[in-house]
Amino acid sequence: MKILVTGCAGFIGFHLSKHLLEENNNVIGVDNINNYYDPNLKEKRLNILKKNKKFKFYKFDICNEDKIIKVFKKRIDCVIHLAAQAGVRYSLENPDAYFQSNLKGFYNILINSKRFKIKHLIFASTSSVYGNQKVMPIDEKSDITNPIQFYAATKTSNELMASSFSQLYQMKISALRFFTVYGPWGRPDMALFKFTNNILRKKQIDIYNFGKHKRDFTYIDDCVNAIKLIIHAKKKRKKFEVFNIANGKSEKLEKYIKIIERELKLKAKKKYLPLQKGDIQTTSANINKIKKFVKYKPSVNIETGIKKFIEWYKFYYYKNGK
Ligand SMILES: NC(=O)c1ccc[n+]([C@@H]2O[C@H](COP(=O)([O-])OP(=O)(O)OC[C@H]3O[C@@H](n4cnc5c(N)ncnc54)[C@H](O)[C@@H]3O)[C@@H](O)[C@H]2O)c1
Repeated sequence: MKILVTGCAGFIGFHLSKHLLEENNNVIGVDNINNYYDPNLKEKRLNILKKNKKFKFYKFDICNEDKIIKVFKKRIDCVIHLAAQAGVRYSLENPDAYFQSNLKGFYNILINSKRFKIKHLIFASTSSVYGNQKVMPIDEKSDITNPIQFYAATKTSNELMASSFSQLYQMKISALRFFTVYGPWGRPDMALFKFTNNILRKKQIDIYNFGKHKRDFTYIDDCVNAIKLIIHAKKKRKKFEVFNIANGKSEKLEKYIKIIERELKLKAKKKYLPLQKGDIQTTSANINKIKKFVKYKPSVNIETGIKKFIEWYKFYYYKNGK
């Protein structure tokens, strides 16, 4: 297959592209390598992908429609749209970045998927669309009309935009609601990276909501596997589908930190703080739909996942003194 992966230099996009290339697909990658976090990390991921001859990379912003059209002209079978302004907290600081990439950029991908009759458009949504729910675990039918940050509002909008296009133009579209994806090559703005970094440097770690947060942590290989299963699914299906992509087990943040400490053989200097504006207290996914649909079976628990992240972090990142 010839697959377009937007956000290919990002955490999930990199892993997904690598796996798709290993399966012998042609991957066209697009990313603007913005500086929301260390662009060197994105370049390093990209250098690994560029070693494969079946990978073609284009550096541009998805808000530039002319450039998108040029890429769509390359007869693409499937679009995996992951490029977005990610991060919950930053959306309180800079909502404009979310408006541009997640709404304007998303629309450019959607309208060109229609124009170029793309057989399957798969895009990243988020567990944040659920806001703070009372009933757990959360399934795909739960209410998503109460986003508590602008990030979630943009992703909910993406789902609505996609659903309308799918109904109007009979497009096959899948929205994937990712739940806290973590693992090697992970994002520096996420808890695992920040905690590891600070504990190793003997710096304090800030623990919001007095440590009462709970998360459904999804290991990157499980996330990539779910996306691949959806790409290759043969089953007849409705045109627009939404899937929770998670581990299916919610863990206390305190337990997560204990495992990091154990792996690093260091004690964290913890500072307990109140709940932050825009923070969701608990995420816990019902993953029956994806399990039934494509026989998805998450296989990595947080003990193994954190160990793998720390091995990578020490080898690739910390050794450079960064
Ligand atoms: N990692 C998670 O836990 C998680 C959870 C829920 C949803 N998501 C979603 O999954 C997707 C991938 O997340 P990630 O963790 O890999 O994030 P990431 O920030 O590592 O990757 C996103 C990539 O997209 C690129 N990008 C951003 N805006 C762009 C634009 N306008 N034009 C071109 N490229 C642009 C960035 O440079 C980056 O490399 C995002 O849509 C994110 O919102 C991630």
